[in-house]
Amino acid sequence: MAAATILVLNGPNLNLLGVREPETYGRDTLADIEEACLERAAELDLAVDFRQSNHEGQLVDWIQEAREAADGIVLNPGAYTHTSIAILDALRAADLPIIEVHLSNIHRRESYRRRSYVSEAAQGIICGFGGHGYLLALDAMARLIKRD
Ligand code: DQA
Repeated sequence: MAAATILVLNGPNLNLLGVREPETYGRDTLADIEEACLERAAELDLAVDFRQSNHEGQLVDWIQEAREAADGIVLNPGAYTHTSIAILDALRAADLPIIEVHLSNIHRRESYRRRSYVSEAAQGIICGFGGHGYLLALDAMARLIKRD
């Protein structure tokens, strides 16, 4: 049987990881995180499709495609977490297990980061563990998919 495919989606400004506010987001680049995800996915017998966009509509299009093309979604929507009902609606329509990831602990920062629209569609949330959070999300996704 073909390995299950997990879409790992990254929202705006995450292309700047490593140089962007390293005291908050760490020194790993998005390429470092992608590489670590591919390694962990291989151990878990998962395939990972890793993407980043600064554009809300592009993220919505990819989530819509995932309905047919993927078995689960791990996503860090960046600032769209706190604003995007369009991404929430797309996630609800995807009808797939969804895990929300944030590098920083969004609950110990500015109050406007505490509100996540995306959480309403997520099976679970991992935040505050830097890039390692993506690997924790893949571990959790592997278990979710096996259970289904
Ligand atoms: C983030 C947290 C968001 O509030 C912020 O806008 C980001 C990154 C995180 O990974 O910690 O861009 O999603």
